[in-house]
Amino acid sequence: MKFFVDTADIADIKEMADTGLLDGVTTNPSLIAKSGRDFMEVTREICDLVDGPVSAEVVALDHETMMKEAETLRRIADNVCIKVPLTIDGLKTCKKLTGDGTMVNVTLCFSANQALLAAKAGATFVSPFVGRHDDNGFDGMALIRDIRTIYDNYPGFTTEILVASIRNPVHVLESARIGADVATMPPAVIKGLFKHVLTDKGIEGFTKDWEKTGQTIPTS
Ligand code: E4P
Repeated sequence: MKFFVDTADIADIKEMADTGLLDGVTTNPSLIAKSGRDFMEVTREICDLVDGPVSAEVVALDHETMMKEAETLRRIADNVCIKVPLTIDGLKTCKKLTGDGTMVNVTLCFSANQALLAAKAGATFVSPFVGRHDDNGFDGMALIRDIRTIYDNYPGFTTEILVASIRNPVHVLESARIGADVATMPPAVIKGLFKHVLTDKGIEGFTKDWEKTGQTIPTS
Protein backbone atom coordinates (compact mmCIF):
# COMPACT_ATOMS: atom_id res chain seq x y z
CA MET A 1 0.00 0.00 0.00
CA LYS A 2 1.34 3.44 -0.92
CA PHE A 3 1.37 6.27 1.62
CA PHE A 4 0.69 9.82 0.47
CA VAL A 5 0.62 12.83 2.77
CA ASP A 6 -2.37 15.16 2.43
CA THR A 7 -0.94 18.64 3.04
CA ALA A 8 0.74 21.63 1.40
CA ASP A 9 2.91 22.31 4.44
CA ILE A 10 6.54 22.03 3.34
CA ALA A 11 7.94 21.32 6.83
CA ASP A 12 5.47 18.45 7.31
CA ILE A 13 6.24 17.03 3.86
CA LYS A 14 10.01 17.16 4.57
CA GLU A 15 9.51 15.39 7.89
CA MET A 16 7.44 12.64 6.27
CA ALA A 17 9.82 12.30 3.30
CA ASP A 18 12.71 11.83 5.75
CA THR A 19 11.09 8.63 7.07
CA GLY A 20 11.65 7.06 3.64
CA LEU A 21 8.05 5.82 3.73
CA LEU A 22 6.41 8.56 1.68
CA ASP A 23 5.22 7.69 -1.83
CA GLY A 24 3.46 10.91 -2.83
CA VAL A 25 1.55 14.04 -1.85
CA THR A 26 -2.01 15.27 -2.34
CA THR A 27 -3.08 18.89 -2.10
CA ASN A 28 -6.37 20.65 -2.70
CA PRO A 29 -7.45 24.32 -2.85
CA SER A 30 -8.32 24.34 0.88
CA LEU A 31 -4.87 23.01 1.82
CA ILE A 32 -3.20 25.60 -0.45
CA ALA A 33 -5.25 28.35 1.24
CA LYS A 34 -4.23 26.98 4.67
CA SER A 35 -0.54 27.08 3.68
CA GLY A 36 -0.81 30.77 2.79
CA ARG A 37 1.64 30.11 -0.07
CA ASP A 38 1.55 30.83 -3.81
CA PHE A 39 0.04 27.75 -5.52
CA MET A 40 2.59 27.41 -8.32
CA GLU A 41 5.55 28.08 -6.05
CA VAL A 42 4.56 25.66 -3.29
CA THR A 43 3.64 22.94 -5.81
CA ARG A 44 7.07 23.29 -7.44
CA GLU A 45 8.76 22.95 -4.03
CA ILE A 46 6.73 19.87 -3.16
CA CYS A 47 7.56 18.25 -6.52
CA ASP A 48 11.27 18.79 -5.80
CA LEU A 49 10.96 17.16 -2.37
CA VAL A 50 9.28 13.90 -3.39
CA ASP A 51 9.77 11.57 -6.34
CA GLY A 52 6.22 10.24 -6.37
CA PRO A 53 3.00 11.79 -7.68
CA VAL A 54 2.05 15.24 -6.37
CA SER A 55 -1.63 16.02 -6.90
CA ALA A 56 -2.39 19.63 -7.86
CA GLU A 57 -6.05 20.49 -8.39
CA VAL A 58 -7.63 22.51 -11.19
CA VAL A 59 -10.20 25.05 -10.03
CA ALA A 60 -12.14 25.66 -13.25
CA LEU A 61 -15.47 23.93 -13.64
CA ASP A 62 -15.57 23.71 -17.46
CA HIS A 63 -13.54 21.29 -19.56
CA GLU A 64 -11.89 23.91 -21.76
CA THR A 65 -10.53 25.98 -18.87
CA MET A 66 -9.61 22.83 -16.91
CA MET A 67 -7.42 21.79 -19.85
CA LYS A 68 -5.71 25.19 -19.88
CA GLU A 69 -5.08 25.08 -16.13
CA ALA A 70 -3.83 21.49 -16.41
CA GLU A 71 -1.44 22.57 -19.16
CA THR A 72 0.08 25.15 -16.79
CA LEU A 73 0.23 22.72 -13.86
CA ARG A 74 1.79 19.85 -15.75
CA ARG A 75 4.66 22.09 -16.84
CA ILE A 76 5.70 22.40 -13.15
CA ALA A 77 7.35 18.97 -13.00
CA ASP A 78 7.13 15.45 -14.40
CA ASN A 79 5.62 14.12 -11.16
CA VAL A 80 2.62 16.45 -11.14
CA CYS A 81 -0.67 14.56 -11.09
CA ILE A 82 -3.60 16.71 -12.22
CA LYS A 83 -6.54 16.56 -9.84
CA VAL A 84 -9.99 17.02 -11.37
CA PRO A 85 -13.43 16.85 -9.76
CA LEU A 86 -15.78 13.97 -10.47
CA THR A 87 -18.05 15.82 -12.89
CA ILE A 88 -18.74 15.36 -16.61
CA ASP A 89 -16.26 18.12 -17.43
CA GLY A 90 -13.75 16.69 -14.96
CA LEU A 91 -13.94 13.23 -16.51
CA LYS A 92 -13.71 14.62 -20.05
CA THR A 93 -10.53 16.36 -18.91
CA CYS A 94 -9.31 13.15 -17.27
CA LYS A 95 -9.80 11.14 -20.46
CA LYS A 96 -7.95 13.70 -22.55
CA LEU A 97 -5.05 14.10 -20.12
CA THR A 98 -4.46 10.39 -19.43
CA GLY A 99 -4.65 9.79 -23.19
CA ASP A 100 -1.67 12.15 -23.45
CA GLY A 101 0.21 10.25 -20.72
CA THR A 102 -0.47 12.70 -17.88
CA MET A 103 -1.32 11.33 -14.42
CA VAL A 104 -4.81 12.26 -13.22
CA ASN A 105 -6.41 11.98 -9.78
CA VAL A 106 -10.22 12.13 -9.92
CA THR A 107 -11.32 13.64 -6.64
CA LEU A 108 -14.53 14.11 -4.64
CA CYS A 109 -15.75 10.57 -5.30
CA PHE A 110 -18.68 9.59 -3.10
CA SER A 111 -20.24 6.59 -4.86
CA ALA A 112 -19.13 3.33 -6.45
CA ASN A 113 -20.78 4.34 -9.74
CA GLN A 114 -18.70 7.52 -9.77
CA ALA A 115 -15.58 5.38 -9.25
CA LEU A 116 -16.70 3.17 -12.17
CA LEU A 117 -16.90 6.28 -14.37
CA ALA A 118 -13.45 7.43 -13.25
CA ALA A 119 -11.96 4.06 -14.21
CA LYS A 120 -13.68 4.21 -17.60
CA ALA A 121 -12.18 7.68 -18.09
CA GLY A 122 -8.73 6.13 -17.52
CA ALA A 123 -7.99 7.88 -14.21
CA THR A 124 -4.63 7.09 -12.65
CA PHE A 125 -6.20 7.46 -9.20
CA VAL A 126 -9.74 7.81 -7.88
CA SER A 127 -10.15 9.54 -4.51
CA PRO A 128 -13.15 8.36 -2.46
CA PHE A 129 -13.52 10.60 0.63
CA VAL A 130 -14.16 8.24 3.56
CA GLY A 131 -14.13 10.82 6.39
CA ARG A 132 -16.66 13.13 4.75
CA HIS A 133 -18.75 10.05 3.90
CA ASP A 134 -18.77 8.97 7.57
CA ASP A 135 -19.44 12.55 8.74
CA ASN A 136 -22.68 12.51 6.75
CA GLY A 137 -23.97 9.21 8.08
CA PHE A 138 -22.71 6.97 5.25
CA ASP A 139 -20.25 4.08 5.62
CA GLY A 140 -16.97 5.23 4.08
CA MET A 141 -15.33 1.82 4.27
CA ALA A 142 -18.31 0.12 2.58
CA LEU A 143 -17.66 2.48 -0.34
CA ILE A 144 -14.00 1.38 -0.55
CA ARG A 145 -15.06 -2.28 -0.41
CA ASP A 146 -17.55 -1.75 -3.28
CA ILE A 147 -15.00 0.04 -5.44
CA ARG A 148 -12.41 -2.73 -4.81
CA THR A 149 -14.95 -5.39 -5.84
CA ILE A 150 -15.94 -3.51 -8.99
CA TYR A 151 -12.37 -2.78 -10.08
CA ASP A 152 -11.36 -6.41 -9.45
CA ASN A 153 -14.27 -7.54 -11.65
CA TYR A 154 -12.66 -5.75 -14.60
CA PRO A 155 -8.93 -6.49 -14.81
CA GLY A 156 -8.69 -4.01 -17.71
CA PHE A 157 -9.18 -1.14 -15.25
CA THR A 158 -5.87 0.31 -14.14
CA THR A 159 -7.18 3.04 -11.82
CA GLU A 160 -5.75 2.91 -8.30
CA ILE A 161 -8.02 3.43 -5.28
CA LEU A 162 -6.61 6.37 -3.33
CA VAL A 163 -8.46 6.53 -0.02
CA ALA A 164 -8.85 10.21 0.91
CA SER A 165 -10.34 12.26 3.74
CA ILE A 166 -8.77 9.84 6.21
CA ARG A 167 -9.34 10.90 9.80
CA ASN A 168 -7.68 8.21 11.92
CA PRO A 169 -5.43 5.10 11.91
CA VAL A 170 -8.45 2.77 11.81
CA HIS A 171 -9.35 4.19 8.39
CA VAL A 172 -5.83 3.21 7.25
CA LEU A 173 -6.07 -0.28 8.76
CA GLU A 174 -9.44 -0.93 7.11
CA SER A 175 -8.19 0.42 3.77
CA ALA A 176 -5.24 -1.97 3.91
CA ARG A 177 -7.51 -4.91 4.83
CA ILE A 178 -9.70 -4.16 1.83
CA GLY A 179 -6.70 -3.83 -0.47
CA ALA A 180 -6.91 -0.14 -1.37
CA ASP A 181 -3.85 0.92 -3.37
CA VAL A 182 -3.05 4.23 -1.67
CA ALA A 183 -3.97 6.06 1.55
CA THR A 184 -3.50 9.82 1.67
CA MET A 185 -3.31 11.03 5.25
CA PRO A 186 -2.82 14.20 7.24
CA PRO A 187 0.65 14.19 8.88
CA ALA A 188 -0.87 13.58 12.34
CA VAL A 189 -2.49 10.34 11.14
CA ILE A 190 0.79 9.09 9.63
CA LYS A 191 2.54 9.80 12.93
CA GLY A 192 -0.26 8.01 14.78
CA LEU A 193 0.50 4.81 12.84
CA PHE A 194 3.89 4.54 14.54
CA LYS A 195 2.47 4.75 18.04
CA HIS A 196 1.63 2.02 20.53
CA VAL A 197 1.58 2.35 24.30
CA LEU A 198 3.30 -1.05 24.66
CA THR A 199 6.13 0.03 22.35
CA ASP A 200 6.78 3.06 24.58
CA LYS A 201 6.53 0.94 27.72
CA GLY A 202 8.85 -1.70 26.25
CA ILE A 203 11.50 0.89 25.34
CA GLU A 204 11.29 2.33 28.84
CA GLY A 205 11.84 -1.12 30.42
CA PHE A 206 14.70 -2.11 28.12
CA THR A 207 16.44 1.24 28.63
CA LYS A 208 16.25 0.94 32.44
CA ASP A 209 17.57 -2.64 32.42
CA TRP A 210 20.35 -1.76 29.98
CA GLU A 211 21.51 1.07 32.21
CA LYS A 212 21.90 -1.48 35.07
CA THR A 213 24.46 -3.40 32.99
CA GLY A 214 26.73 -0.32 32.82
CA GLN A 215 27.60 -1.34 29.24
CA THR A 216 27.64 0.63 25.97
CA ILE A 217 27.53 -0.57 22.39
CA PRO A 218 30.55 0.76 20.47
CA THR A 219 29.36 3.10 17.73
CA SER A 220 32.62 3.58 15.82
C1 E4P B 1 -7.73 14.28 -0.89
O1 E4P B 1 -7.04 14.36 -1.87
C2 E4P B 1 -8.24 15.47 -0.17
O2 E4P B 1 -7.27 16.48 -0.26
C3 E4P B 1 -8.47 15.24 1.30
O3 E4P B 1 -8.19 13.91 1.67
C4 E4P B 1 -9.72 15.80 1.82
O4 E4P B 1 -9.81 15.54 3.20
P1 E4P B 1 -10.80 16.31 4.20
O5 E4P B 1 -12.15 15.71 4.09
O6 E4P B 1 -10.20 16.06 5.55
O7 E4P B 1 -10.77 17.78 3.80
